[in-house]
Amino acid sequence: MESLTVKLGERSYPIRIGFELFESLLESSHLNRDRRSGRKCALAVDAGVLEDHKEMLDEVFPDIPRWVMPVGETSKSMATAEELLQFLATERLDRSSFLIAVGGGVLGDLAGFCAAIYQRGIEFHQVPTTLLSMVDSSVGGKTGVNLPAGKNLAGAFKQPLGVAAWLPFLQTLPAREFSAGMAEVIKYGLLADSDLFHLLEKSGTITADSPILEQIVVRCCEIKAEIVAEDEKELAKDGGRALLNLGHTFGHAIEAVAGFGQYLHGEAVAIGLLMAAQFSEKNGLLEKGSSSRIAHILQANDLPVRLIAPLDTEQLIAAMGRDKKVRSGKLRLIVLDEIGTSRVMEIADSFQLRELWQKFGAES
Ligand SMILES: NC(=O)c1ccc[n+]([C@@H]2O[C@H](COP(=O)([O-])OP(=O)(O)OC[C@H]3O[C@@H](n4cnc5c(N)ncnc54)[C@H](O)[C@@H]3O)[C@@H](O)[C@H]2O)c1
Repeated sequence: MESLTVKLGERSYPIRIGFELFESLLESSHLNRDRRSGRKCALAVDAGVLEDHKEMLDEVFPDIPRWVMPVGETSKSMATAEELLQFLATERLDRSSFLIAVGGGVLGDLAGFCAAIYQRGIEFHQVPTTLLSMVDSSVGGKTGVNLPAGKNLAGAFKQPLGVAAWLPFLQTLPAREFSAGMAEVIKYGLLADSDLFHLLEKSGTITADSPILEQIVVRCCEIKAEIVAEDEKELAKDGGRALLNLGHTFGHAIEAVAGFGQYLHGEAVAIGLLMAAQFSEKNGLLEKGSSSRIAHILQANDLPVRLIAPLDTEQLIAAMGRDKKVRSGKLRLIVLDEIGTSRVMEIADSFQLRELWQKFGAES
């Protein structure tokens, strides 16, 4: 088992990652300690995870009230949040109670948001079950839901009490979802760790059986934990947590214009990573040829490297303008100076972006 800590003073918490018994992981991630404390708790679980792991979850969490979330991004809504909040109230959880979130990023974001607002805030544990949620969404305390006006538009910062990433969950994760998680893994190599990038380049396709899986998940969590410890609320002027959005301004635009659900989040991010790299190359920042190396890794992990069907360029540009990363009317893109080194760049002129979108398959 690998252990690390997200260092946030009194709100510091452990991340445990491993293949050993699920119970041991829960023990060391503090979840079992909190259960033994006699405090009331409830379990929020993704229906897809429950289908594949019911027996084990029944055994490990026998007497805990259980709320099951329908699968998919559409569950990350105010309506579903209300259902979960209502469930917590019906089960009479009080301010000393806590919630256990078992699922991918959708369940974790939704449950964390409900934990942040139920009775003005109760505590919660993250038990991520997708690769994306293990390396990204379960760590760092960003929680929230989508609004009809856009993704993640309502939310709260709410750090968990602990994260227990049990790697055997990934054995049942559909291959397409695993690949989508790899987009975030590749992102970490690009934005902060050239050694990780080289490891991925050398290793080709990563699967749930890859011998380096644990090493990769640990390294991604380390990078995220360091960045979050330095800039928890994404306020740093010189990058900080915003760097984690590498590829995301493009990716969120693709998700919004194509209609949520067309692309998996990680698939849209994969295209966004390559777009950010090509933008960086074109502007003389990143060494020529780097983009093709990035495309190669993305393709080795079954990720798209251009739009699957044409989308409207103007709509994509408009969607980028609505992204939360826009400050004072200027778009803030994350660019690469080299593989493993990223920074924020403000962009006022969208001419280059139009050209770039069209290169990636958008309609003129
Ligand atoms: N909070 C953050 O910092 C942050 C960061 C990145 C992404 N996100 C959010 O995460 C969400 C995407 O999360 P995701 O990619 O984990 O998708 P997801 O939660 O929708 O899970 C993907 C699918 O896999 C199934 N599944 C999950 N675990 C499984 C398992 N072990 N075995 C079998 N099936 C399983 C689910 O039922 C679902 O159908 C997006 O809403 C995104 O905005 C949040």
